[in-house]
Amino acid sequence: MIIKSAVFISSEVSLPKYPRPVIPEYAFIGRSNVGKSSLINMLTGNKSLARTSEEPGKTRTINHYMINESWYIVDLPGYGFARTSKSTREKWEAMIHQYLQGRLSLMNVFLLVDSRITPQASDLSMANKLGLLGIPFTILFTKSDKISSTILEKHRAIFRKSMEEHWEEVPRIIVTSSKTSTGKEEILKFIEKTNPLFKPQAQDTYYKKPGKI
Ligand code: GTP
Ligand code: MG
Repeated sequence: MIIKSAVFISSEVSLPKYPRPVIPEYAFIGRSNVGKSSLINMLTGNKSLARTSEEPGKTRTINHYMINESWYIVDLPGYGFARTSKSTREKWEAMIHQYLQGRLSLMNVFLLVDSRITPQASDLSMANKLGLLGIPFTILFTKSDKISSTILEKHRAIFRKSMEEHWEEVPRIIVTSSKTSTGKEEILKFIEKTNPLFKPQAQDTYYKKPGKI
């Protein structure tokens, strides 16, 4: 798929304020600094679309970008950012949870994992949460340009093994790099194939009521 347009739509922090969920949507989730915003810029070919930073904790709201006037990419705050206050961390986590639970137009979550390290408890717990919520997801290994292919494969095998402890079927793992554009075609091809599966919701079912999982 060729990205012809990528436009910033909104930066909000609560479900009723997000754009009407009438087109397919794909969210990028992961620990702070894993490379979510950079990956969105790489996919859209626009380096200044989503704001990035060397410091974790850059993205603090839920940001919608409209692609090709027909679907959304969503950039989220990171989880597990230890240097922020407990109350801010809890606020971001609640925001992410409310978004995941209530966003009916969400077609797939891309769960970003740093390819340079072994599986982190917070990543595995996010994968489990997505499973409990019944949200399809794909794992994206980020920053692959920073490690050798041998270590990358080792980490991929370890990650797969950790997932196998909880899952019958391990979700797809795509290796990416925002520096070299590795993974771009595979991700865009996946989105292109998934878009036609979108089912528009009736007006009154746009938002699911919040609840506990
Ligand atoms: P938060 O918004 O704080 O949660 O972070 P984020 O996940 O959006 O990360 P961001 O895209 O801001 O990137 C964090 C840092 O990692 C920046 O300094 C990026 O330049 C760097 N980075 C991201 N992706 C890559 C990559 O694929 N390769 C390399 N070498 N650096 C990357
Ligand atoms: Mg970000």
